[in-house]
Amino acid sequence: MNRTSACTAALVLLAVSAASADPGSTLREAFQDHFLIGAALNASQFAETAPARQDLITSQFNTLTAENVMKWQPIHPRPGQYHFAAADRFVAYGERHDMFLVGHTLVWHSQTPSWVFQDDSGNPLDRAALLERMREHIHTVVGRYRGRVHGWDVVNEALNEDGSLRDSPWRRIIGDDYLEHAFRFAHEADPDAELYYNDYGLESEAKRRGARALLQRLQAAEVPLTGVGIQGHGSLDWPSPQAVADTIETFADLGLRVMITELDICVLPSRSRRVSADIAQRQQAGDRLNPYPDGLPDAVQRRLARRYAELFAVYLQYRDVVDRVTFWGVTDGDSWLNNFPIRGRTNYPLLFDRAGQPKPAYQAVLETAARFANVEEDTPLSVP
Ligand code: XIL
Repeated sequence: MNRTSACTAALVLLAVSAASADPGSTLREAFQDHFLIGAALNASQFAETAPARQDLITSQFNTLTAENVMKWQPIHPRPGQYHFAAADRFVAYGERHDMFLVGHTLVWHSQTPSWVFQDDSGNPLDRAALLERMREHIHTVVGRYRGRVHGWDVVNEALNEDGSLRDSPWRRIIGDDYLEHAFRFAHEADPDAELYYNDYGLESEAKRRGARALLQRLQAAEVPLTGVGIQGHGSLDWPSPQAVADTIETFADLGLRVMITELDICVLPSRSRRVSADIAQRQQAGDRLNPYPDGLPDAVQRRLARRYAELFAVYLQYRDVVDRVTFWGVTDGDSWLNNFPIRGRTNYPLLFDRAGQPKPAYQAVLETAARFANVEEDTPLSVP
């Protein structure tokens, strides 16, 4: 039986309850023998102004990702102008707390200013000029934190949902080999840093197949590539644990390390219907799309806990290839999902509530780790 079917035919049943996790245990303790566990932070979170939140971050996590401050727009907003102050603070903060630091992200179509792709007169750059700009940016940013930032999301979200290469300005101007160059530049700037390809939706079959082909192509070209970041943005119904297992296995089969890099679970309705201009109708639609402004009902809270338990059961099953699991934020209040894909909603996607208190999902994750510690190596876990 291969690992995938073993996962389906899981024998060990887990009961998820909100009680009984070892109160002394934290996430970083619970997973210390298995993988790193972390969170993405924004500038206000590493400013160290709120002591209670600081304890939460430093006691729970051993790896941190820059949620925004290292993206092109904030760190290199104008030609020749770098704003390093916030990224410097992020790195200093991480070092003070002995964290494995992840830089996010060097080459992406989003949060990248339009001047990057234009010459001084506003005309599109040619291939050689854009490659030179990419080289300069990567060498400057990665070089500045050489030996201090341990891994980089070198290229982010290069694929379409059907698995083909996204028609970003990077690809349009440089060609399909822009990824190869990005990885080589990053490796030149810090030969010891881990280098990742990072994307969302890889749990869907078409995109996963496209990612596999892309990564194989990079490997055939001997590009310095450490692993794949599966972002892990999910909902209460998607992706299935089986799809997560298949995805991890697909990349592990290529000999790559695997990380879950941006984990969160949206609990709100995803699709907006066509809404007429009528104010009352819009109000009703708004209520439907933002159903829990004053708190998450217990039943949904329990579903979320179970969802996290089943996901962590899969991550634990693949702990020999999974190096890291990073949440995209610390508390529900920090999450980008309060404003995406619809602004101003009240979402509950993480393990800690708006007051920084652990939710049932947190207990469920700790319990999954505790149960795992009590079963034989390689026994798959599942949640009934
Ligand atoms: C998001 C941040 O969380 C937001 O604060 C920002 O406004 C937009 O970007 N995939 C990624 C991340 O790789 O960089 C995105 O982060 C979330 C989706």
